[in-house]
Amino acid sequence: MRFFLNIIVSGSTGLVGKNLCQLLQSKGHRIKYLIRGKSKDPSSISWNPETGEGDLAAFEGFDAVVHLAGENIAKGFWTASKKKRILESRQKGTENLVLLLKKLKNPPKVFVSASAVGYYGSSVVPVTESSLKGSGFLSDVCEAWESSPKLLDPTCVRTVQARFGMILSPQGGILKALRPLFQLGLGGKIASGKQMISWVALEDVTGALLHILMDQTLKGPVNIVSPNPVSQEVFAKAFAKALSKPCFFRIPRFLLWGEKAKDLLLSSLAVVPSKLQNSGYCFSYLTLADYFKSAFSNF
Ligand SMILES: NC(=O)c1ccc[n+]([C@@H]2O[C@H](COP(=O)([O-])OP(=O)(O)OC[C@H]3O[C@@H](n4cnc5c(N)ncnc54)[C@H](OP(=O)(O)O)[C@@H]3O)[C@@H](O)[C@H]2O)c1
Repeated sequence: MRFFLNIIVSGSTGLVGKNLCQLLQSKGHRIKYLIRGKSKDPSSISWNPETGEGDLAAFEGFDAVVHLAGENIAKGFWTASKKKRILESRQKGTENLVLLLKKLKNPPKVFVSASAVGYYGSSVVPVTESSLKGSGFLSDVCEAWESSPKLLDPTCVRTVQARFGMILSPQGGILKALRPLFQLGLGGKIASGKQMISWVALEDVTGALLHILMDQTLKGPVNIVSPNPVSQEVFAKAFAKALSKPCFFRIPRFLLWGEKAKDLLLSSLAVVPSKLQNSGYCFSYLTLADYFKSAFSNF
């Protein structure tokens, strides 16, 4: 493996993709953005994730592919058509990309594909990469999402399924979505507040992805979470404190109905990043307090 890699990144306009591309470029790696639809931009490769159509020659000769693209899970109601887009953009999009890579004369040495800790469903005991799949819509989506990379020849291509926890960044994701509510002093406990949240700072998501690209011993599922999950109540209090706001409110369980609330708000997961820790990855943020102290200056 070369020290400076040629890397294709999908989902590069998203929260993770944008920050990952910046980090990789700052380290001297060269990026091509895999984009949906047509583009004449020489820094991009166009393709259609729904059909798999794309210029095969444009995919030749890369060291790595990082595949992050997928319909946003957190925004909007989980209607039947939204759920179809969430599943198909990942299952079909990843399968089409894998089938395309399989046709290459010079396939990449490593294929890193996003997934989520939602794979484990909800659990009362801590889970590691060797824990079993859970139940629920998100768990089924993750299983389908992770199945296609197994079609790649493992003797030629190292494949990694990056199981992200709840990614924290003031720029986007959950913190940006919740901030207006917390700014109004309306933050608080959800149901009992005892459900565990496996959070991870965006800096550690991009840092861990770089570590995975460079460490050839890492393969299969890799949990990308901080080693210190917290309860939802602790999380809400820490966020409110970071914004210098009170944290008195409570959303009772009976108001939280539907699959989205069950999978995203009520599920409890204490995920252990065993493979990252065993391979020597150094986290930028080990505790939520440290993270908020750094991300919000008035903490
Ligand atoms: N943020 C989190 O807390 C979190 C937690 C667990 C897992 N993940 C997963 O990690 C990946 C990256 O997360 P993120 O927060 O960066 O996501 P994001 O901000 O929603 O960005 C995802 C990117 O995927 C592409 N995309 C959007 N809709 C699509 C569709 N229908 N079909 C194909 N591509 C589509 C877009 O990029 P282009 O327009 O450039 O194609 C978009 O910028 C996602 O797959 C997400 O599900 C995120």
